[in-house]
Amino acid sequence: MLKIDDIKKICVIGAGNMGHQISVCAALAGFNVTCNDISQNMLDNAKDFAQTYLKERVAKGKLTEEQANLALARLTFTQDLEQATGGADFVIEAAVENLDIKRKLFSDLDRIAPPHAILTTNSSYIVSSRIADATKRPEKVCNMHFFNPALVMKLVEVVQNPHTSEETIQLAMDLCQKLGKIGVRLKKEIYGFVVNRVLTAIKNEALFLADAGIATPEEIDTAIVNALGHPMGPFKLMDLTGIDLAYQICMERYKESLDPKDKPSPLLVEKYVKQEFGKKTNKGWYSYA
Ligand SMILES: NC(=O)c1ccc[n+]([C@@H]2O[C@H](COP(=O)([O-])OP(=O)(O)OC[C@H]3O[C@@H](n4cnc5c(N)ncnc54)[C@H](O)[C@@H]3O)[C@@H](O)[C@H]2O)c1
Repeated sequence: MLKIDDIKKICVIGAGNMGHQISVCAALAGFNVTCNDISQNMLDNAKDFAQTYLKERVAKGKLTEEQANLALARLTFTQDLEQATGGADFVIEAAVENLDIKRKLFSDLDRIAPPHAILTTNSSYIVSSRIADATKRPEKVCNMHFFNPALVMKLVEVVQNPHTSEETIQLAMDLCQKLGKIGVRLKKEIYGFVVNRVLTAIKNEALFLADAGIATPEEIDTAIVNALGHPMGPFKLMDLTGIDLAYQICMERYKESLDPKDKPSPLLVEKYVKQEFGKKTNKGWYSYA
C-alpha cells in the first residue's frame, strides 16, 4: 500500500495560472517536481516565476538561500510528457479546462505513468469520474482542487468518485498536509464541488446585473466587498482567475446541458472575443499597467 512517504516525484501537467504555482509549492515541500506543458513559452514563464519568487522569499527572510536553491534544484520544466511522468508517484493535472483534452491527457498518463502513480485533476468543475474512465486505474483517480493563487490559498477540495479507493483519498489528503494546505474531503462528487458552486451563483448574478445595466462591474464589486466582506468582488476575482476560464466553464457546461441559462452572458462573450482575459492580458473588467 502506497504511503505519503513513498511519494518522491510529483508531475504537474500545465504551467499556466495554477500549474506554475502548484509546482513551486510542491518543490518547497521537498518533492521532486516536473512541470509539463505543450507551450515552451509557458514553461519558460513558469521557470522565471519560480526563480523570481524564491529570490523574493529569501529577500523577505521567509526562506534561507539554501532552501530556495534546493527548491529550485527540485524543479524541472519540460514539454516532454514521457520525461515528465517517468518515475512519477503522483500527478496533478492543471491543463486547460476542457473535458476532451483532459480525457486524452489521462489516457496518455495512464499509458506512460508508473502503474502505482495516483492521477489527480485540478479541474474547477469537472468531476473525476468523467475522466477516470479514460484510464485503466479509476481507483487511483480523484479531484484535487487547489485555489488561486495556489502558493497562498490554503484550501484544497479532495473529491472522490465512485471508483476512487480509500488509499487514493488518504494519499491525496496526506499530500495536502505535506504541502501546508487544508484538505477538505467531499464524499460524493458534484459538478463544481463546494466553493465554486457558491461562487458561481454570485458570479452569475453579478453578470446578470451588469448585463442589465443595473450597475457597472466596479460598482457591483464595491457593493459585494463592502457589504459581504469578501476580499474582492466577483469581477476582480474573474480577472484573477481568468475571464477565458470563466467563458470555457460556461461553454463546457452548456455543451452538456444545452440549457440556454448555462450560456456565457453577453458581457462575458464580449470580453472573451476581445481577448481581454484579466490580469494575464493586462486587461479584463479592470485595466492593469
Ligand atoms: N485559474 C484559476 O483560478 C483556477 C483555480 C482552480 C482550478 N483551476 C483549474 O486548473 C486548470 C488550469 O487552469 P489555469 O487557470 O491554470 O489555465 P491556464 O490557461 O492559465 O493554463 C493552462 C495551461 O495548460 C496548457 N495545456 C493545454 N493543453 C495541454 C496539454 N495537453 N498538455 C499539457 N499542457 C497543456 C496550456 O498551454 C496552458 O499553459 C483548469 O482545469 C482550471 O479549471 C483554475
